[in-house]
Amino acid sequence: PETPIRKICCIGAGYVGGPTCSVLALKCPDIQVTVVDRSELRINQWNSSKLPIYEPGLDEIVQKCRGRNLFFSTDMVPALKEADLIFISVNTPTKTFGLGKGRAADLKFVESCARLIADVCERSKIVVEKSTVPVRAAASIVNILKANTKPGVSYQVLSNPEFLAEGTAVNDLTNPDRVLIGGEISEDGKRAIAALSWVYQHWVPAEKIIHMNTWSSELSKLAANAFLAQRISSINAISAVCEATGADVSEVAKAIGLDSRLGPKFLQASVGFGGSCFQKDILNLVYISESLNLTSVAAYWQQVIDMNEYQKMRFGQRIVQAMFNTITDKHITVLGFAFKKNTGDTRESPAIYVAKHLLEEGACLHIYDPKVERAQILLDLDQPDEKENSCVRIFDDPYEAAKGTHALVICTEWDQFITYDYQRMYDSMLKPAFAFDGRKILDHAALTKIGFHVETIGKRPGQRFQEQNWAGANGM
Ligand code: UDX
Ligand code: UDX
Ligand code: ADP
Repeated sequence: PETPIRKICCIGAGYVGGPTCSVLALKCPDIQVTVVDRSELRINQWNSSKLPIYEPGLDEIVQKCRGRNLFFSTDMVPALKEADLIFISVNTPTKTFGLGKGRAADLKFVESCARLIADVCERSKIVVEKSTVPVRAAASIVNILKANTKPGVSYQVLSNPEFLAEGTAVNDLTNPDRVLIGGEISEDGKRAIAALSWVYQHWVPAEKIIHMNTWSSELSKLAANAFLAQRISSINAISAVCEATGADVSEVAKAIGLDSRLGPKFLQASVGFGGSCFQKDILNLVYISESLNLTSVAAYWQQVIDMNEYQKMRFGQRIVQAMFNTITDKHITVLGFAFKKNTGDTRESPAIYVAKHLLEEGACLHIYDPKVERAQILLDLDQPDEKENSCVRIFDDPYEAAKGTHALVICTEWDQFITYDYQRMYDSMLKPAFAFDGRKILDHAALTKIGFHVETIGKRPGQRFQEQNWAGANGM
């Protein structure tokens, strides 16, 4: 293009900005990428040997590029001034107060970025919105920039939503299904789109880079997440029917997924979906629909969230019911706290909900997760700090965690959970020993053979104790 991109600045060194820029720097040795963040701690971590986020394959890329054409800094002003293109990838949490509380995305961080850019930049730039933001956010960025632009400076604002999933970010970024670029339908708009496409074409085939108007691009991101979450809520709704009838949700999912119109992915029934995006984006879609007076549309998507709440609640209740309707003072091992495997992220993790439910019922928890930081678990469970007699204890070893407890509760589908020595755990546990598999990853027949009372999602509860009770009632 006429204006080659030599320097990129990304505001926000989080789960999106960090991995995206690392892969960008790897694939574009001719571009200098500087990731800035206002958090000194975050930036120091990105510059250390222990990165602030765990993502398979990321360490190697950062090692290779950092100091070469990838830089992490808190010094935002010079990085913004020098950049030809600026990514905004700050967080957009759900508003906790005021208009749209609990549903609308809070754009305060995006807005403060736009103001800072307008304030410090002395030549024209392309500004790319990468955070998940509600439809028409690009328009607000444009308005703020326009109202504050210095003379002779102009901005092109693009929407370029990120579709990476945590735990597979490096692969998703390296081989994306598509790259969406939304922009203004004008000559300047087209030039900006071409410039950003040129960056991606360093490694993404041109036919996978699609251009559209800004609003379509913004809405596509919300819609994609809503559809994905909807599939999970749909299969989870079916899982409840399975538990009530004797059908097996895994068999049903397999049968459904073989229909090429439906496909096999995202049909894994579970304790519920988590993560920073699904709930937030759907709540946002609901809020936007309501604001546009599309009440039926809002109600439709709200059901996806409601079903997820129902699923988490059902699983929690089932644990209590199976353990003779009381878990007061019982010790329970929670295996997995992250919202999915291969990440240390706990945002909206169903494990938080389940753990809180068990705590409210009076249980003491032994928690183990391979990647979640101890402090994060305590924060998520509102536990000030871990004391000797605390009801939340966090372990570095799953076997130590299981010792002396009544039950195992699987909340995350970590691969390593599949190959644990469950006989060894069983031998160290109180009897009867229970296993509640919220992710359907374990060999339930093998666990039952060991002696566990096993319960899982989308399948009738284990028959063992019911049969014994029946035998007892008949005096046998
Ligand atoms: C459906 C199922 O597809 C089939 O597997 C099952 O055995 C019977 O029910 P059918 O109702 O014959 O088959 O047709 P289908 O192609 O599924 O279309 C159903 C309706 O959905 C039609 O009115 C069609 O126009 C509409 N449709 C389909 C859409 O509006 N949009 C789409 O993307 C697809
Ligand atoms: C999601 C989207 O996939 C990604 O495209 C978008 O950019 C951000 O949001 P992420 O939240 O990181 O990514 O992970 P994802 O793999 O989508 O899983 C979300 C949640 O759904 C997890 O809690 C996961 O365990 C759960 N899930 C997923 C299921 O319960 N069943 C499934 O079949 C798939
Ligand atoms: P995401 O999952 O969207 O990447 P994260 O919370 O992981 O969200 O990362 C967002 C990052 O953006 C955080 O590190 C935060 O410190 C940073 N951030 C938020 N607002 C600003 C701002 N105004 N200026 C600079 N950095 C910001």
